[in-house]
Amino acid sequence: MTRITACEVSALADGDALKVEAPGGAIALFNVDGEFYAVDDRCSHGNASMSEGYVEDDATVECPLHAARFCMKTGAALCQPATDPLRTYPVEIVDGTVYIDVPGSVAKIGGSQR
Ligand code: FES
Repeated sequence: MTRITACEVSALADGDALKVEAPGGAIALFNVDGEFYAVDDRCSHGNASMSEGYVEDDATVECPLHAARFCMKTGAALCQPATDPLRTYPVEIVDGTVYIDVPGSVAKIGGSQR
């Protein structure tokens, strides 16, 4: 597991979204009423960025391309045309900073031991 620093809490207003680059692919981070959620940024149906989608008060997001809706909490696809879920990621706030935990490890920079 790798912990990514996403942003400061104050940098993402209620109802806003942020695209966060991560080792396994970009992640969409949302603030809904002070709760932060992280899901895959790429829609499971096509090549659309969920961070450019429409954030709803019920912690769902609508894809900007074909209007499929997803639950931010579970990643579940709630309506057609999407059927596959989005992956979700744990979010933790520590001292005003938002962190996202992603699978895998960041490649080490520098020489390797023999
Ligand atoms: S690309 Fe998101 S619903 Fe089609």
